[in-house]
Amino acid sequence: MIRKANISDYTAMDEVFRASANAFCTRSYNSQVIESWAGTPWPERFHENNKNGDDQYVFTINGKVVCFGSINLERHTLVSLFVSPEQSGKGIGKSMLEFLVARAISSDILVLKIDSSLNAVSFYKRHGFIETGRSNYRTRNGVDIESVQMERKLSL
Ligand SMILES: CC(C)(COP(=O)(O)OP(=O)(O)OC[C@H]1O[C@@H](n2cnc3c(N)ncnc32)[C@H](O)[C@@H]1OP(=O)(O)O)[C@@H](O)C(=O)NCCC(=O)NCCS
Repeated sequence: MIRKANISDYTAMDEVFRASANAFCTRSYNSQVIESWAGTPWPERFHENNKNGDDQYVFTINGKVVCFGSINLERHTLVSLFVSPEQSGKGIGKSMLEFLVARAISSDILVLKIDSSLNAVSFYKRHGFIETGRSNYRTRNGVDIESVQMERKLSL
């Protein structure tokens, strides 16, 4: 089931994030980048995201967080989507993506944007996003992570 994340989920979300980044993103980034991005537990990132206006959701199975996704409706941006490696390939990422897209549509957003990590570009392309540019995300340790700007037109 998908529900809104609350503060008590942040540690589990951080674990999903770091496991997912270490499993999937190592295909596209070197170990220094992954270490800087996802090497150290930092559940506080979700407090910051919350303060920045991101709506954060978790997908749970028997009460355990196995995926999280977030969207910033003011910025028309899907901010993040991560699935636990043990639960990947079961349609969970797609369900969360569709849930977030539905949130955007119900907020009358016409174009949903995302800065995708390199490894997830083909996933988003498969789900209607097109590439519009390149950018960099700087981690709190000052390491740049190359990402791909993408967008998907939404029909109301
Ligand atoms: C990308 C990710 C979210 C996919 O989640 P998932 O639950 O394993 O994917 P699903 O099982 O829902 O797959 C849905 C469909 O997308 C396809 N798909 C999954 N990952 C894909 C990928 N990397 N490239 C292309 N297609 C992909 C599946 O084959 C499936 O196709 P189908 O509907 O035709 O059967 C997950 O691998 C992940 O968390 N990756 C690392 C995190 C990340 O980089 N997030 C992006 C940062 S914004």
